[in-house]
Amino acid sequence: MEARIDPAAELRAMREAVEERIAYWLLEGAARDDKLSAAMRAGALSSGKRMRPLLTMLVARDLGCVSPALVDVACAVELVHASSLILDDMPCMDNAQLRRGQPTVHVQFGEDVAILAAIALLSRAFGILAAAPDIPPAVRARLVGKLSETIGAQGLVKGQFLDLHGKRATVDDIATTNELKTGVLLGVAVDMAAIIAQADDKVAASLRAFALAAGHAFQLRDDFQDVPGNDSAVTGKDTGKDAGKPTLINTVGLDEARRQLAGHLADAERCLGAALGSRQRTRRFVEGLFGGTAAPAFSAAAPSYAPN
Ligand code: IPE
Ligand code: IPE
Ligand code: MG
Ligand code: MG
Ligand code: MG
Repeated sequence: MEARIDPAAELRAMREAVEERIAYWLLEGAARDDKLSAAMRAGALSSGKRMRPLLTMLVARDLGCVSPALVDVACAVELVHASSLILDDMPCMDNAQLRRGQPTVHVQFGEDVAILAAIALLSRAFGILAAAPDIPPAVRARLVGKLSETIGAQGLVKGQFLDLHGKRATVDDIATTNELKTGVLLGVAVDMAAIIAQADDKVAASLRAFALAAGHAFQLRDDFQDVPGNDSAVTGKDTGKDAGKPTLINTVGLDEARRQLAGHLADAERCLGAALGSRQRTRRFVEGLFGGTAAPAFSAAAPSYAPN
């Protein structure tokens, strides 16, 4: 029997543990005053939601895992995310000026340093997986393989490529792009939890289905936040960056996009129930993320940026 815990306190402690551990990994072996290290820290430690590492930790805890490597596995996922944001904001990609309420990394440090910081964060992610304590070799190899396939030319990189160059003529094309650019990283966050917790295949498959559905919902909600007129002071990032892009909102309109968002959230909820039954940590967190609202009005979208 687990001792009773205060969910909010547990979540806070997990978030702090992830942030402290990222700070530790980024200071390891780094010259504290160099511009590259500063750019890496700005990209990774500015105030994000830490949704992906928290998902890894909460799912693993819901599965009964107490591995001391858990926080490091979660950090690896967050560093991949941080790296993807630096690149996504570059002038040749979304050309964004504001991220998490701060000037973007290339605005602060220059494009050359931003590219190098993004690569160094990715490399750090794999270094962390290699060094995390007490992981049996076969499990470590699976974790590395999963993360690698998630990032590469069949995963996140492909999603970003399609976002910039794909035709996205149909709703299915848009869904494929969203799944690759956003869903698969949520997918690997729960895959890695399932691997380290040694969950059975059926549970792992339900968790992945949950994460992919949540990923669709998350990207759609993010697209609602981009609609011009929303306040950058609330979202912490530029708005209007999707103008002219074939996003779902631009293709089918606000009402249909809202309907699809609600459908993805319903799928996510069903799959989470199939994976974790009545265990509550992950469910509570996801309900908090989506504000308990199935289809928020674009002007009332929950803020994604929470200043520290
Ligand atoms: C932003 O992700 C990129 C998308 C997939 C839409 P988040 O909204 O999780 O960004 P942070 O980490 O909280 O800043
Ligand atoms: C981003 O999608 C997905 C990533 C891989 C970063 P967006 O381009 O919509 O994300 P934001 O709105 O800049 O955070
Ligand atoms: Mg983008
Ligand atoms: Mg962007
Ligand atoms: Mg966006």
